[in-house]
Amino acid sequence: MSDPYILVLYYSQQGATRQLAEQIAAGIEEVPGISARLRTVPSVSTVCEAVASEIPPEGAVYASLDDLRDCEGLAIGSPTRFGNMAAALKYYLDSTSSLWMNGALINKPATAFTSTSSIHGGQEATLMTMLIPLLHHGMVYAGVPYSAKALFDTTSGGTPYGASHFAGPKNDRTVDEHERALARFQGRRLAKLAKALKPLREE
Ligand SMILES: Cc1cc2nc3c(=O)[nH]c(=O)nc-3n(C[C@H](O)[C@H](O)[C@H](O)COP(=O)(O)O)c2cc1C
Repeated sequence: MSDPYILVLYYSQQGATRQLAEQIAAGIEEVPGISARLRTVPSVSTVCEAVASEIPPEGAVYASLDDLRDCEGLAIGSPTRFGNMAAALKYYLDSTSSLWMNGALINKPATAFTSTSSIHGGQEATLMTMLIPLLHHGMVYAGVPYSAKALFDTTSGGTPYGASHFAGPKNDRTVDEHERALARFQGRRLAKLAKALKPLREE
């Protein structure tokens, strides 16, 4: 049995969503007694014969089903794709029926994060698309409450639905001060919720 961890599961083609994932992980690691496990998913291809290497070119290693089954909570992140999560992440989620049948994720906390190239390019809609399968799994969704002061101050990313990043049309804006503060807040909150909800799962 591994030590308790929150799974930070993300897909990132150009690195923007990965920056947010790392900030959420840093927030989780600030809470004693629980750690962050960063995992990604392989890209999907229109070429039927394409097979992904087992080692990703950059970032975290690929998530297994066991990574998800055994986590204490989940932070899931994707760049927006026309206001929706990326197919690669959806493909991974579509492989989780066995966990759903066994109720493996019921009463575990979850949250979502995203990155877009335009400021009103669908951040909140994308976060909602990731929320839906988590509700089917019986997870307890946690956004970012307005006690996170940066929600009032940000002029870029950061929403009450979850952390977000405005990467700019060339995807070259790095995560700024407010986006970082909100991602860390979200990570800390998720870790605290995972600890608080644990007794409920053991009933
Ligand atoms: C097929 C496709 C659709 C996209 N749709 C949107 C969109 O609707 N709104 C938006 O602002 N950005 C859109 N983008 C841009 C990415 O979401 C954005 O560059 C994001 O920051 C990339 O994150 P990453 O660096 O983690 O890959 C799209 C990109 C692709 C490839």
